Amino acid sequence: MTKKITESVQWVGKTDWELRKFHGNEYSTHRGSTYNSYLVRDEKTALIDTVWKPFAGEFVNNLKKEIDLKDIDFVVANHAEIDHSGALPELIREIPDVPVYCTKNGIASLKGHYHGDWNFNPVKTGDRISLGSKELIFVEAKMLHWPDSMFCYLTEENILFSNDAFGQHYATEELFNDRVDRCELYQEAVKYYANILTPFSALVTRKIDELLSLKLPVDIICPSHGVIWRDNPLQIVEQYKKWADSYKEDQVSIIYDTMWNATKRIAEAVAAGIKKTNPQTRIKLFKVSESDSNDVITEVFKSKAVIAGSPTINRGILTSMAAILEEIRGLGFKGKKAAAFGSYGWSGESPGLIDSRLKDAGFQMMGEPLKISWNPDESQLQESLKWGETLKIKD
Ligand code: FEO
Repeated sequence: MTKKITESVQWVGKTDWELRKFHGNEYSTHRGSTYNSYLVRDEKTALIDTVWKPFAGEFVNNLKKEIDLKDIDFVVANHAEIDHSGALPELIREIPDVPVYCTKNGIASLKGHYHGDWNFNPVKTGDRISLGSKELIFVEAKMLHWPDSMFCYLTEENILFSNDAFGQHYATEELFNDRVDRCELYQEAVKYYANILTPFSALVTRKIDELLSLKLPVDIICPSHGVIWRDNPLQIVEQYKKWADSYKEDQVSIIYDTMWNATKRIAEAVAAGIKKTNPQTRIKLFKVSESDSNDVITEVFKSKAVIAGSPTINRGILTSMAAILEEIRGLGFKGKKAAAFGSYGWSGESPGLIDSRLKDAGFQMMGEPLKISWNPDESQLQESLKWGETLKIKD
């Protein structure tokens, strides 16, 4: 199915309602996703990005209903990751000489994936191709989020094709941001930023400043996943600037796992203590072995402090906690506080290990870890509550 965006731009992508895991198992997609591909028609015709490989046949067949493939003058590959380039081999089998515009790194990635000797045309920031009355201007977006990533901008229509940036894993029958539930849209947009773009926040800020300095009017932003921003499109750019700047809300996330509920009971007592001294602060608890890790990461992203707990097992921490701490380390959150806690029977290494992992991950620790032996009695629950009370959550 294709959909009209403007007189000259059509959506020719794929809505994937069934998708629940993306990037292997790394990213949960509770609301599915879309792989957006755009056909731009002027005196010449350009196709911007394609779809994920499993949908390549369907994509090319649908495209043939819209246009004689021989009438496609240019293909733009803004990003070589398989979810956007996966239909290129099938398309290029049909039109082998079509020029493919991408960055120099894009050529390396596309060759690495598909080993095709295609008609590659490397572009860099500021390069343009004419479609007749309109031009496509290319803007490299290195490491947002791959070395090859690129945006392109359609003059006259003032459309920014931003690839992964400003996208959301969000399947919907609607095409535009003003036609969907704003709360759902922003839940998916912030999850996308928190889980994928957080490590590149400094680059996000620089790229947005560079884009704004070009003073190109932007009427529409067409990302490669989810809905298109046409109603106040710069709202998502402004939001990205905030998310990229050590983002935090007045929220504390307590993330833990538990074997016989001792660490869970400590977590609840700590939460009560934090609430006592921070009545306005939103506190959320997550048992990580039963929570979606991408949702937990999103809540960590929104938090000003993270309190992490695990019982001690085999002189270490539970694997569920080890896994989420590793994700947190890799994402490189900035400007957040943390503290560690846990129950133990005899050796009690876990809180200290969590403490050092969070410190290594760049968190500012708020004090000594809390260690509670066995299952807490009333006085140990009071100790946990007091520990929570004394944490310096406020800046
Ligand atoms: Fe949506 Fe980086 O691919």
